[in-house]
Amino acid sequence: MKAIYPGSFDPITNGHIDIINRASEFFDEILVAGLVNSKKQYLFSTEERRQLIEQSFKDNKKVKVDTFEGLLVDYMKEHNYKAIIKGLRTVTDYGYEAQMALTNKNLYKEAETFFIHSEEKYSFLSSSMVKEIYSNGGRLSSYIPEHVEKALLLKVCKR
Ligand code: PNS
Repeated sequence: MKAIYPGSFDPITNGHIDIINRASEFFDEILVAGLVNSKKQYLFSTEERRQLIEQSFKDNKKVKVDTFEGLLVDYMKEHNYKAIIKGLRTVTDYGYEAQMALTNKNLYKEAETFFIHSEEKYSFLSSSMVKEIYSNGGRLSSYIPEHVEKALLLKVCKR
């Protein structure tokens, strides 16, 4: 069975990568689907986010990458996905994720959400935290892959 892992990935972190690689042990294909929301301001463009994700999985042939706009369930119906993978870091995530899983199920009866618990070392990690640490000169090597760190450096240099 194939599954979809949606998110903003601005940028992808080691926490996302860990969940996706672990999910790929149980599913035939994981599609990492990056949200394109014209109302949201991203640090990385859609294409940059896609490339950073692709580079993160160059050694995992089960992982594919795409972007989507609008409702996740509409993309799922169009491309024949029924399984959604989500990572859970803390109990705080659960409230929001449960609401999202129930909303998706209400919109699309066949959608099932599978939760995978984050490893403890990533339980505090988020893309926003990465950007915050980076903009304050903190060390990031254990939170993001090297190619993402380089992309962040370029982004900051261009500003
Ligand atoms: O990485 P994020 O920002 O926490 O990911 C959130 C995401 C992309 C999974 C969520 O916002 C989403 O699925 N957006 C698409 C719009 C949608 O389908 N909304 C209805 C479900 S609440």
